[in-house]
Amino acid sequence: MNSKALKILIFLFTLNTITFYLYFSHPNHSHSPENHHSLPENHYSLPENHSRFPLSKPWPILPSYLPWDQNQHVKNQSCEGFFGNGFTRRVDVLTTLPKISRKGGWFRCLYSETLVSSVCEGGGIRMWPERIRVARGGEKVDTVMGRSEEEEVPVFEDGAFDIGSSDGSWRGKKLVGEEFLHQYVPTGEIKRHTMMELIDTIRVVGDDELQCSEWVEEPTLLLTRFEYANVFHTFTDFYSAYVASRVTGLPNRPHLVFIDGHCETQLQETWQVLFSSIKYAKHFSGPVCFHHAILTPLGYETAMFKGLTEKVDCHGASAHDLWQHPDDQRTARLSEFGEMIRAAFGFPVDRHRIFKPTSSHNILFVRREDYLAHPRHHGRIQTRLHNEAEVFEAVNSWASNQQEYKLNVINGRFAHMPMKDQVRAIQDASVIIGAHGAALTQIVSAEPKTIVLEIVAYKFRRPHFALIAQWKGLKYHPIYLGGSYARPQVVIDELHKIVRSLEW
Ligand SMILES: *[C@@H]1O[C@H](CO)[C@@H](O)[C@H](O)[C@H]1NC(C)=O
Ligand SMILES: *[C@@H]1O[C@H](CO)[C@@H](O)[C@H](O)[C@H]1NC(C)=O
Repeated sequence: MNSKALKILIFLFTLNTITFYLYFSHPNHSHSPENHHSLPENHYSLPENHSRFPLSKPWPILPSYLPWDQNQHVKNQSCEGFFGNGFTRRVDVLTTLPKISRKGGWFRCLYSETLVSSVCEGGGIRMWPERIRVARGGEKVDTVMGRSEEEEVPVFEDGAFDIGSSDGSWRGKKLVGEEFLHQYVPTGEIKRHTMMELIDTIRVVGDDELQCSEWVEEPTLLLTRFEYANVFHTFTDFYSAYVASRVTGLPNRPHLVFIDGHCETQLQETWQVLFSSIKYAKHFSGPVCFHHAILTPLGYETAMFKGLTEKVDCHGASAHDLWQHPDDQRTARLSEFGEMIRAAFGFPVDRHRIFKPTSSHNILFVRREDYLAHPRHHGRIQTRLHNEAEVFEAVNSWASNQQEYKLNVINGRFAHMPMKDQVRAIQDASVIIGAHGAALTQIVSAEPKTIVLEIVAYKFRRPHFALIAQWKGLKYHPIYLGGSYARPQVVIDELHKIVRSLEW
């Protein structure tokens, strides 16, 4: 091994140690036995077939991180309940007697009364890819044009998943019944709850029957996505996957298996950097066994999505303030998540970065552009700001004629930029302007002092980005239009006010 690689290894190891130290030395970290959240002690020794997955990535250190331990005092509908660890009701379904079985499975759900859903996890779980009816997934979009949505959403045949148990009385039975699903993984308003359907297929087999072509040793999230080509919806999936990893106390970032047949999009890049690896269920060649599988709630079940229809009355706060003054109405979780994305792309997130007044500020104009989003898409996006180009030009020329302030206007052509460049543009911006459009979801990675100016067409008065700004504690200025045309002068006047309020 060359010395550079060795240094990186040592660095990663040290980083990991520090993360652990920080976590366990946190004064609030609970050590009481009833709250203790670790895997059952009976997990079996390493099976013969080791996984061909790459090594898992450590968690980065995040300034807005607060411990995710199981705290029974988290209140229903509190901000920690919505955005953090409200998954406090633990329901054990299957436990294996210690020492009897090497491969014996276990299964439990952690239920949130605020989100009315569960993060479930288990071991000794086997997946049969050939019993999942779904497209292969991960293709380039132009190779699967016209493929229907139904082909990309999984249908589970009976026994698509099973779990080993040494307890003979369980064999051949379903792992959970209808009542359990109704109570802990309810369908709610969702048309098809694929995670509930997945759990519904799990059958118990004898642990001696658990033969697999591959054992995945490291913790792995199983996830089903909807509206995967839309940035807002994909962020709800990112968030759900992040929360599930934290709630289950994973020591490293998990691997990810998509239990769907969606094709590849620009957003795949973010999945790849956030998690240790990604793979599609249909890309496994035979039955695959998971030593520790975590079943991720749907993106629709996150507070990010629920906030569109129900009141999620939370305001952003710094982790430092919340640490000193816990508050049910405030949260630093969305900032923690934004930092996670930045750190995953390799950007620094150091809280001690000194904010000295700068001599110039970036104004990022997030553009809406036509591109081929998914196989049912014709490549044209809906116009939400008819004269976007005119407004952009006006802003650009106004900014370059400023004597008093030095302003750089960035043309944020996000549809044509790699995700990493999008995140960089967001974090370097002092002001972010955009017409209502999913790309604005990226403001979760903005710096705390960033100001958002959203131009809202009459037909698109929806609260997505106003809410994200509120939950992150960003200043937000909307310009509501009577139709879909914005007078450039109105935008410039508003921008002028914002620019004057920046630190110079
Ligand atoms: C949690 O709060 C919601 C809204 O107030 C309420 O409808 C629900 O019944 C509560 N759940 C529990 C378990 O108390
Ligand atoms: C290990 O994998 C091989 C094929 O890759 C399979 O034949 C064998 O049954 C597996 N062993 C176990 C214990 O799962």
